[in-house]
Amino acid sequence: MNIEKIIKNAVLSQEAYPVKENLCRIKLDANENPYPLPPGMKRIISEHLSAVSLNRYPTPGSPGLKADFARYYGVDEDMILIGNGSDELIHILLTAVNTSTSGSVMFPTPTFAMYRISALNTGHSIIEVPLDNHLELDTDAMLGAISDKEPSLIFLSYPNNPTGKCFDRNDIEKILEASGGLVIVDEAYFNFSGKTFMRDLDRWDNLVILRTLSKVGLAALRLGILIGHPSLVHHLNKVRLPYNVNIFSQVIGSLFVEHSEKFLDLTDRIVSGRKWLFDELTAIEGINPYPSDANFILFSCFMEKDDVYERLMDRGVLVKSFASPDILKNCIRVTVGTEEENREFIEALNVVVHGE
Ligand SMILES: Cc1ncc(COP(=O)(O)O)c(C=O)c1O
Repeated sequence: MNIEKIIKNAVLSQEAYPVKENLCRIKLDANENPYPLPPGMKRIISEHLSAVSLNRYPTPGSPGLKADFARYYGVDEDMILIGNGSDELIHILLTAVNTSTSGSVMFPTPTFAMYRISALNTGHSIIEVPLDNHLELDTDAMLGAISDKEPSLIFLSYPNNPTGKCFDRNDIEKILEASGGLVIVDEAYFNFSGKTFMRDLDRWDNLVILRTLSKVGLAALRLGILIGHPSLVHHLNKVRLPYNVNIFSQVIGSLFVEHSEKFLDLTDRIVSGRKWLFDELTAIEGINPYPSDANFILFSCFMEKDDVYERLMDRGVLVKSFASPDILKNCIRVTVGTEEENREFIEALNVVVHGE
């Protein structure tokens, strides 16, 4: 069998999403929450999980979780779709929308890699619009592409991964206004930015919001939440696999809603850690951090960044380096860790950069 003849060209020409095996003591590469579960939660979770019936399929569509998140976000239940991480919700959206020849999915670059990977895998053509020199949206270019190519989907990471800041709200409003397609505002890092379009769902029927529990200490659950208009959610439900969210994630997701303040205390610590880390990075000569609204910081290095990356790894610290030739070519992204991890990272970076 010639496997290349069977697999789509769009798949053949891609690389799998790069995930580094974790051999480092300090893992600051994947924008995870570094803290273990809040006090008392392990016991509560164990009690609930022991009551689960493993011989039965989980309830399709996660209705309990849908009701919990509807209450939590203050929206109607029929506006919610629960996914196996927001990665799955991105894939569901891309599976449901029309593919056109001119360019059906648009996003700024650099941004979250899965928009591109999933769009190509689902047979879409893509329109990539580079950010300007201030890492803001090039709104004129985006509005031009909307009018020329009428994309079915526009992805905006808010704050943007990996650059860190929320784009200007007015620019996003102009895009929402101009677009006849869906505009996905991906608020994966909302708990660190405090900025949201959740209250704007009444204003635009093409607005869709994505949230996730991955950044608030529950990445292993794989739970993403889509909030959109009932007519859209109705169609997306036909694309969703029946048992897409396993029973453990459904149970623990509901416990998150019930005990959310405990989880969110930890995000406050991360926001304080971000400020400390930003000031320390600024103080290192030759390192330029970009301001961040998320739980990570992007910084440029005066040295060869692959060298910095490798030498940090030799000291037990894993960060994220990018293989792209754009604004990121000399940049590294570091996730905000615990106070101790942040201190060790800064010490290691000082040694790598200045040998002190
Ligand atoms: C902007 C953005 N959206 C979505 C995701 C994926 O979230 P999930 O873990 O819920 O699939 C990430 C993960 O890093 C992200 O940065």
